[in-house]
Amino acid sequence: MSILFEPTSIMNMSLRNRFVRSATYDGCANDGYVTESQTNLYSMLAKGGVGLIITGITYVHPAGQISKFQNSIAGEEFIPGLKKLTHTVHDGGAKIAVQLFHAGREARFPRSREEVPLAPSLLETDPYHEREYRAMRRDEIWEVIRAFGDGARRAREAGFDAVQLHAAHGYLLSQFLSPFTNRRQDEWGGNIGNRLRLHREIYQDVRRKVGEDYPVLIKVGVQDGFPEGLGFNEGKQAAKLLATIGYDALEISQGLRGLGYENTEFKTNIHDINHEAYYRQSCREIKKEVDVPVILVGGLRTFKLMEEIIQNNESDFVSLSRPFIREPDILDKWKKDDSYKARCISCNRCFDGLLKRETLRCFQEDREKHREARDVHNKN
Ligand SMILES: Cc1cc2nc3c(=O)[nH]c(=O)nc-3n(C[C@H](O)[C@H](O)[C@H](O)COP(=O)(O)O)c2cc1C
Repeated sequence: MSILFEPTSIMNMSLRNRFVRSATYDGCANDGYVTESQTNLYSMLAKGGVGLIITGITYVHPAGQISKFQNSIAGEEFIPGLKKLTHTVHDGGAKIAVQLFHAGREARFPRSREEVPLAPSLLETDPYHEREYRAMRRDEIWEVIRAFGDGARRAREAGFDAVQLHAAHGYLLSQFLSPFTNRRQDEWGGNIGNRLRLHREIYQDVRRKVGEDYPVLIKVGVQDGFPEGLGFNEGKQAAKLLATIGYDALEISQGLRGLGYENTEFKTNIHDINHEAYYRQSCREIKKEVDVPVILVGGLRTFKLMEEIIQNNESDFVSLSRPFIREPDILDKWKKDDSYKARCISCNRCFDGLLKRETLRCFQEDREKHREARDVHNKN
């Protein structure tokens, strides 16, 4: 059996293999609540054999909401729906972690006209951000910390096997870590220890509320997508500090996004194996420095390559998003034939669709089906 399919664990969470479905927003929630289309999607994924499913961005505080169609864990009322989701996944034999999220300055749904999105600091000029936002007050930072802790407590109550904090992709925690967006002069800004104070305080609040035996994971952006942002040397140092703080596993990804898809976490143009696994080197370097499991994500498409990465001890897990959108049952295909080629072409139409308020699906698949139908029609 391939090492990828060997059972393993993160802390006390046993997993049937080393495959993770990376957090993927699906645009299917109804006012923050879980919907039937979500339980159906998660059921398919779990039955497809993946070890751990990480939900899409789930906001812990209304000021951190980015989409109307996103899940919430910001109140007790969301627990029953989330329970349905965790039961569905457990029935399919997989484990599930909820991704706890705050959008920071990227937030979109103000509760009042006066409310503007929150960020560590207000930048005078910023070519990467156009909309209005303001710097957080200290009391607002503490409110967010407690919201993450309460979200984690609700997650445990709802039956999630773990939580994953979203500290990547330019959202609130990523904004605090990056020296580009965090220009604070107080204890929440400045040196890397201060820029990670939020991550540390959240960890402690979460830990206090979920107990010592519950896996608390983090997805961390270790490099921004433009030169003036967080560089990898500091990002690597941040990853080491996060492991020291106590996080139980690190998923290695991108920090603030630069311009175009090529400077984001979901790169396109993965035409051959050399363009796959684009955070491999970062992950390998971090893996050498930490003693908690690391999870590699980003452009993983070839079974043999993933196997090689795990065998070489460059990562402990492999995490995929877009290939599971195209083929929720892709692991079955790889089990039967390890040379099977993932059908996802990384065109990002799935993501573009979400931006246009479509629900998550593979548009390439739609196109192919349409083409096949047209060919059949033309033949007849
Ligand atoms: C449609 C879509 C939605 C995503 N939603 C999330 C999300 O909710 N949280 C997150 O951390 N990453 C999200 N991502 C990023 C993925 O988790 C992953 O890091 C990235 O797509 C690279 O992996 P891949 O090449 O296997 O797709 C999303 C990606 C896509 C394509």
